[in-house]
Amino acid sequence: MRAIVLLCLLGSAMAEDDSFSWGGPGKNVVDPAENNVCLTDQASCGCCLMQQQIHRMETFFNMTLNQLEKELIKTMTVLNNVRDSRSAFSVALTNEDSLTCFGPFRDDKVIAYKHVFINLGNGYSVDTGIFTAPRSGVYSLALTVYSDAGSPGNSLAACATLQVNGQVVAGPREKNMQDQEDSATIVVALHLLAGDIVAVSLPIGCFLCDNNSHYNTFTGFLLYATD
Ligand SMILES: *[C@@H]1O[C@H](CO)[C@@H](O)[C@H](O)[C@H]1NC(C)=O
Ligand SMILES: *[C@@H]1O[C@H](CO)[C@@H](O)[C@H](O)[C@H]1NC(C)=O
Repeated sequence: MRAIVLLCLLGSAMAEDDSFSWGGPGKNVVDPAENNVCLTDQASCGCCLMQQQIHRMETFFNMTLNQLEKELIKTMTVLNNVRDSRSAFSVALTNEDSLTCFGPFRDDKVIAYKHVFINLGNGYSVDTGIFTAPRSGVYSLALTVYSDAGSPGNSLAACATLQVNGQVVAGPREKNMQDQEDSATIVVALHLLAGDIVAVSLPIGCFLCDNNSHYNTFTGFLLYATD
């Protein structure tokens, strides 16, 4: 019994030693010296094989764990990237109790939407009305305009243009004398580059009216980043 325990201890000591060749995980290389031990002492042979097997499994699990740790770090990096690039804004023209109109003006004028529902990532400036894309990606942009001519028969001009870097992308337009009120909406998905400037411009003659019912809204959010 004592001899078997001793052999086992010897076996485990050899297993710790780097020079001990055990074949690596998955391989079944049998050491000839070990074969001799197996011939002379069946019981200690079983014990040594078990030690070998345990060592092999330990190495295998260590490798698997290392791999998983690497994957986890990679995943966390991607997740943090996604979190950092969150960008969403949604604003309304005003939050006044009484209906207030913006325009008409003699020149095109950028509309500074004053009421902020959300401005995640602070891409929207309430002072200028300009949204600056924090990073390149596909953005969803929506614009709803509403106007009130004041009384039937007055000319109505519910119009605005969505612009990227000063270029018109789309523009809802309702100009007539048949309605007192009108509303129009556009929604687009655009690939913007980091630093691109998005704004809503009020063309000459157009005017928009609103109160805290928020009939005029401007919304944008990053669908996914492309850099
Ligand atoms: C497995 O990892 C543990 C902790 O890092 C280490 O103590 C042990 O020696 C490793 N075993 C093998 C077989 O690599
Ligand atoms: C906003 O103005 C419209 C049109 O005058 C009116 O019908 C509506 O009740 C007003 N909204 C609020 C919250 O007062």
